[in-house]
Amino acid sequence: MSLEKIENLMAGIVAECGDEIVELYKKVPGGKRLRAKLVLKIAGESEQSIKLASIIELIHAASLLHDDVIDDALTRRGVESINATFGNKTAIMLGDILYSKAYEKLVGFNSTISSEVANAVALLSQGELLDVELSKQINLDKDKYFDMIYKKTAVLIEATAKCSANLANKDEQKYANYGKNLGLAFQVIDDVLDVIQNEKTLGKPALNDFKEGKTTLIYIDLINSLADDDRQKVMSFFKKELDDSQRMWLLQKVFQSGALKKSIDLAKSLGKEALEAVEGEENQVALQKVVRDMIEREF
Ligand code: FPP
Ligand code: MG
Repeated sequence: MSLEKIENLMAGIVAECGDEIVELYKKVPGGKRLRAKLVLKIAGESEQSIKLASIIELIHAASLLHDDVIDDALTRRGVESINATFGNKTAIMLGDILYSKAYEKLVGFNSTISSEVANAVALLSQGELLDVELSKQINLDKDKYFDMIYKKTAVLIEATAKCSANLANKDEQKYANYGKNLGLAFQVIDDVLDVIQNEKTLGKPALNDFKEGKTTLIYIDLINSLADDDRQKVMSFFKKELDDSQRMWLLQKVFQSGALKKSIDLAKSLGKEALEAVEGEENQVALQKVVRDMIEREF
């Protein structure tokens, strides 16, 4: 199976660094491999597509290792994060190793693909920096939120789709648009799940974003839709650990205010835009399934 080949190639690339790094890498949970699946859906299975998918998943894994340090996250995908188990220094250096090995393998690709991926990583880092900046106080500016999620999440998915199209001699711009809207929808849903999903399913603490200082779209809409007293109450929760009754109250408000529906509707319309970008392309069913899986997911 293609995904297995990708896992094996990733492990093989890491093995070039020696046993110690292999042992550490084994502690990094794999995740859903959505980006790898996207490569396969667009470019099909070939030696090149398996390699591209492995490179992109290694970069994604590196970015999450660094993100968990930045966010002081204790868990990732239901298990203890690398920073929690081995400390920040190890997590940062393992991220650097995965990222550098991915780059080493990227050199063999044509200049469109190598510069597209390299550029995406630079933007990814700028997105993370924006996230850190925006987390210092409550942000009610939607443009800033969208700029940040575009860079932090959508850019790598956009580059994944575009590079896969390049490999398969398909229309790069169409697939770039598809990937961009898919990536935005993915992050909007991620932010919704943080609020409405439980810790067990998420594999990380629930209702964590606002506590971390992240005023995600669902909070922006919630705060903007509430009358003064309720708005003040929500804003007083910023960066705080909530008790059960505060959690229940917040959840009720998210449902009642329409903020939840607004985010879900937006994700659906982004999904629709993604599909419109690739209308007429031969692999419609597969492309639709990717959009559906990204939006109708539980974690
Ligand atoms: C998760 O966000 C973080 C990202 C999607 C990108 C992080 C990017 C970097 C740290 C820079 C890139 C660095 C390298 C080495 C490639 P989140 O905290 O909102 O999501 P979470 O809840 O899953 O942690
Ligand atoms: Mg994080």
